[in-house]
Amino acid sequence: MKISITKAEQSRISELDFGNLDFGRIFSDHMLEMAYSDGQWQIAEIKPYGHITFEPSMMALHYGQAIFEGMKAYYVDDDTINLFRPKDHHARLNNSARRLCMPDIDESVFIEALEELMKLDHEWVPKKHGQALYIRPVMFATEEYLAAKVSQEYRFYIITSPVGAYYSEGFNPVKLTTSDQYVRAVKGGTGEAKAAGNYGGSFLPARKAQESGYTQVLWLDANEHKYVEEVGTMNIFFLIGETLVTPELTGTVLPGITRRSVITLAQEWNIPVEERRVSLEELFDAHQNGSLKEIFGAGTAAVISPVGLIHHQGKAITLDMEKIGPFAKKMYDAITGIQYGKIEDTHGWAHPVDVRASVCQ
Ligand code: COI
Repeated sequence: MKISITKAEQSRISELDFGNLDFGRIFSDHMLEMAYSDGQWQIAEIKPYGHITFEPSMMALHYGQAIFEGMKAYYVDDDTINLFRPKDHHARLNNSARRLCMPDIDESVFIEALEELMKLDHEWVPKKHGQALYIRPVMFATEEYLAAKVSQEYRFYIITSPVGAYYSEGFNPVKLTTSDQYVRAVKGGTGEAKAAGNYGGSFLPARKAQESGYTQVLWLDANEHKYVEEVGTMNIFFLIGETLVTPELTGTVLPGITRRSVITLAQEWNIPVEERRVSLEELFDAHQNGSLKEIFGAGTAAVISPVGLIHHQGKAITLDMEKIGPFAKKMYDAITGIQYGKIEDTHGWAHPVDVRASVCQ
């Protein structure tokens, strides 16, 4: 696959303050654009990041056929940038696309596009541990048509943004609350897809949670309102006794790639891992009898984020943690060690890009 490349005339990198990276506010010099029409994807194009023009009748705006991915690239040395598990992100993108009746993207196009973007914009990858280049692939329906139908036209973009910590708390524990009123996903719905609408629907409950002093909502199952699901911006893990417990994937939880990495590493460390239903009752009991040792979230943007408090119907689980717990810290070090190329990658998760290799035009 040949990607056409138009380089930015002038880089904007001098405007960037690497010491002060707000999540997802600044975008690097180039982006990838690919249009789908006449039943196929057209030639992909890398071009300067900039405005795009659409008509108000574009179907994504009306019926929400829009999906995205979130992945990251890490600075290893001046010659090498590591993409983390790009093929897994590609597979999840296509799963989301299928759920929303959107076209698949070819793996080789996806990977080649990422490699070319890294070669062009490698100077935008922050060098400091804890920072990375966030990569946002996004696909949406672009046919201009008001019938509530599957669009015949789409646009796919990849934009990238140098980022630091996702939560303003940084490494300090975040505070979560459940919601009595709202749910994120129902069985058979779009909860396991990375559909834009899943996020839009969570903003009102998230705002209410934030107004009450919590960082995010801890979503519960829609049927019984008893079982923990995820946080919307990350999956959730509980260290109960010596066992790592996380909600199972039943179609309502996003199958996180960091989640999968945490499970693999814990199993390799001979930590028993249980993917199963986890009720709030069990968590409150475990907290009371002292067996609930740590709670943390895992996600691409969030990496490993300690959770210090869960509020539910006037009661709270508070873990006496100033900062991240020892297990979560060990997991953070192991995952980031692989991502930044500091620890041997025995799983083939890191996808190194040689940024000295010339950009193919
Ligand atoms: C990610 O972790 O990449 C996500 O997609 C969460 C996000 C909404 C920032």
